[in-house]
Amino acid sequence: MDYEIKDIELAQQGEARIYWAEIKMPVLRAIRERFYREKPLKGIRIGGCLHITTETANLARTLKAGGASVSLCASNPLSTQDDVAAALVNSGISVFAIKGEDNDTYYKHVHSVLDTRPHITIDDGADLVFTLHSQRGDLIENILGGSEETTTGVNRLKSMAKEGKLRYPIIAVNDAYTKHLFDNRYGTGQSSIDGILRATNYLLAGSVVVIAGYGWCGRGIALRANGMGAKVIVTEVEPLRALEATMDGFWVMPMKEAVKLGDIFITATGNINVIGSEQFPLMKDGVLLANAGHFDVEIDVKGLRAMAEKERDLKENVKEFILPGGKRIYLLAEGRLVNLSAAEGHPAMVMDMSFANQALVAEYLVKLSSPLKPGVYPVPMEIDNEIADVKLKTMGIKIDILSEEQRNYISSCEFGT
Ligand code: NAI
Repeated sequence: MDYEIKDIELAQQGEARIYWAEIKMPVLRAIRERFYREKPLKGIRIGGCLHITTETANLARTLKAGGASVSLCASNPLSTQDDVAAALVNSGISVFAIKGEDNDTYYKHVHSVLDTRPHITIDDGADLVFTLHSQRGDLIENILGGSEETTTGVNRLKSMAKEGKLRYPIIAVNDAYTKHLFDNRYGTGQSSIDGILRATNYLLAGSVVVIAGYGWCGRGIALRANGMGAKVIVTEVEPLRALEATMDGFWVMPMKEAVKLGDIFITATGNINVIGSEQFPLMKDGVLLANAGHFDVEIDVKGLRAMAEKERDLKENVKEFILPGGKRIYLLAEGRLVNLSAAEGHPAMVMDMSFANQALVAEYLVKLSSPLKPGVYPVPMEIDNEIADVKLKTMGIKIDILSEEQRNYISSCEFGT
């Protein structure tokens, strides 16, 4: 390893925060205890490209408890928590990541993980898989399979599969119900607002918040912004999603209209240039721009920079751009994932389910009796159901059980008779 963080104080701080997450991750803890006893991942090398957070640390330790050797790099240059990286390195997990790394270092670290010749890849955004296919194809023969954590990564992998370029099977963890219904919606909803507030201490009550994209993330952000008293406008390109936003009680309009009304803009589309050069001059003075989508392409930062007469770092995660005529625009966290760059990412209670999926999918890939063909596959429904069941139990919530009469009724065609 050509790069390690070994600072002991930093590691101790990271250790305490990893523990804080661990106590809120009972499903993953139960899997870890079983993995420790059964060692289902013995001899398996796992390479992960994930946000290096306290929750990821708990996933890595769960995989290690199962017998795997684990190497991690970051899935975003700004999302690494250096204290967590230090604690993981101290406990025998290789981490190639440092907060604020530049693009070259980011990819150098992706290659460092690939140098460990992983049998399983765990990705968040598909940078690891993409780099593996485009530059390190010789490693593919070792690989059993992989998993993908986020919507943009799954979309990217499906495009690779469609073009016949994907050379091994990948399980779309993002698409599990126990992942996107909770992580994308409630996790991104809460933590994106958290990131914006930590960076700016802005008052949401009475502010106009424009949310681009009413997918799982956008819905969650809209729900939380509304709950804190903001007036929410949604922009969409899909009629069904726009209709849903309307009936959920939000204003829906094109960005070219919303742009004149918003105080805070949050993109969550997975798409490019959702807010671009033609919109900046139409904005009010002092607006905030934040992105919650995976890549930093949703706000045209280059366009903003080219248009601005002056640019300065005002405070951590807040950059001020002054346009000709004096209008001020504030870009948060460089247009990168605001919840991970300016806050701590999703709460552990929700990552408990996302990473339970990741751990059980790794076990599933190892235990497969016959290998899957290259392609993008769903998480088996048994895994999804098991996680929902255990999560409910750990929350102390009981539910009803179908009687035999009810089970027979709903599986028959004699409804109403
Ligand atoms: P989704 O596919 O459910 O929703 C995206 C929505 O954006 C769709 O309804 C689509 O019609 C809309 N959209 C696309 N282009 C648009 C445009 N130009 N203007 C307005 N709307 C547009 O995806 P999901 O799960 O909500 O994810 C969105 C992004 O957030 C992805 O990049 C995903 O990887 C990322 N993500 C970020 C997380 C975080 O921690 N910040 C967590 C989970 C996902």
